[in-house]
Amino acid sequence: MKNYQITEWCHHFIREHVKEGDLCIDATAGNGNDTKLLCELVGDTGKVIAFDIQHMAVEHTKKRLTEDGLLGRAEVHLDTHENMSQYVEKESVACITFNFGYLPGGDHALSTKKESSIVAIQNGLSLLKKGGIMSLCIYSGGDSGFEERDAILEELKQMDGKKYLVIVSTYYNRPNNPPIPVLIIKL
Ligand SMILES: C[S@@+](CC[C@H](N)C(=O)[O-])C[C@H]1O[C@@H](n2cnc3c(N)ncnc32)[C@H](O)[C@@H]1O
Repeated sequence: MKNYQITEWCHHFIREHVKEGDLCIDATAGNGNDTKLLCELVGDTGKVIAFDIQHMAVEHTKKRLTEDGLLGRAEVHLDTHENMSQYVEKESVACITFNFGYLPGGDHALSTKKESSIVAIQNGLSLLKKGGIMSLCIYSGGDSGFEERDAILEELKQMDGKKYLVIVSTYYNRPNNPPIPVLIIKL
């Protein structure tokens, strides 16, 4: 691992898990960092479906993938991640990434919201195949506030332990509401 930032922490597990030919979803495309990683991992025979509600994010992600010659492996949709089940079959997806909050340099008012985030997580879980993973980067404080973090953590606590393994990590000795990386594995 290059560093221990939340995204790099999640990428470590994603790299371990995603294989050539897999179908993956980036639920919050933003500037395309997660979409790019997933496209690299799925290879020419796999597919990545990415979502964002911000036009700027869709454009940034497409530009990023084009520059890296990866656009052919992806579909980038201007749509809310709540609708992801309209795009893929149930139990067909190897990995779904969520990076909540707002797009750096974008409109902070268009940050993820607890209601739609919870629906999207629930829908995403039904799309994961057995052994599939979902990674969540959860932020709080500042413009993100605490509502979304609290709602997601509560939702995770309710999840059936026979169906899902939920691992919530903490930057235990960091001040100021450090981000929370989460990994969910479908059993
Ligand atoms: C922290 S950024 C994502 C960063 C991104 N993963 C990257 O690598 O750059 C959060 C993104 O979620 C998007 N977003 C907010 N609500 C959404 C929704 N309902 N569906 C899909 N994307 C949403 C925002 O527009 C923003 O671009």
